[in-house]
Amino acid sequence: MSDGKLAGKVALVTGSSSGIGQGIAIRMAKDGADVVVNYSGHIEGAQETQSQIQALGRKAIIVHADVSKVADCQAVVQAGWDQLGKVDILVNNAGVEKGSEFVDVTEADYDLVLDINLKGPFFTTQAFVKHLLDAKLPGRVLNISSVHEDMVFPHFASYCASKGGIRMLMRDLAVELGPKNITVNNIAPGAIITPINKSLLDDKAKLDPLLANIPLGRMGTVDDVAALACFLASDDAAYVTGSTYFVDGGLIRNYHEQ
Ligand code: BGC
Repeated sequence: MSDGKLAGKVALVTGSSSGIGQGIAIRMAKDGADVVVNYSGHIEGAQETQSQIQALGRKAIIVHADVSKVADCQAVVQAGWDQLGKVDILVNNAGVEKGSEFVDVTEADYDLVLDINLKGPFFTTQAFVKHLLDAKLPGRVLNISSVHEDMVFPHFASYCASKGGIRMLMRDLAVELGPKNITVNNIAPGAIITPINKSLLDDKAKLDPLLANIPLGRMGTVDDVAALACFLASDDAAYVTGSTYFVDGGLIRNYHEQ
């Protein structure tokens, strides 16, 4: 067993085939965890995550699951228990965003965003908690939210609704699950260099004003987020529950409407 701060733990990271989820999965393995790597679209990304974890000497299984479907949420948790013996840490990371004028939002796009970003964490957490209660084990839930759980994002109304929802879900579950020794927290990234931001990164006219709003003057990296995730999942954070932690270079304190 590794001697890292997550030694002996098993982490399930949804959407760990790319971006922030991939970074968290690999960094948790560096800290000693075995990992359930989940993907819905890109198996190559999941395989990349798995091989990096295995190169660190940790176990990684790949599980396909579309968290917008409740049966898949349950199956991905079950796979962790079946193949790695348990799941101690759940990172609800999988997420999407769809930008458009509010009046043009379609039912299909609304459902896609709400189902992946809010319904998915809701039912994956429910499955995770049921197993922990049966086994009488403590646990950690981390939701990868966004600065937009609190800060406006015009033209991304469905995204804001989903992230605002996950903020209240976290607060509610922290109180309900605290007595079971299950902690629940949100990490709220700002502008991080990941595939979800590709169109922004490729558009200097949009990128420059955003950078001007970030007090630290740069986009964040996946590792900036992963470091906090590992802390919140570790024993060092045993008394931390019910809050959101921003990793945004100060963006939320300095937003200006364009
Ligand atoms: C969104 C990005 C956006 C960032 C800062 C994130 O939640 O996914 O598209 O650039 O927030 O506004």
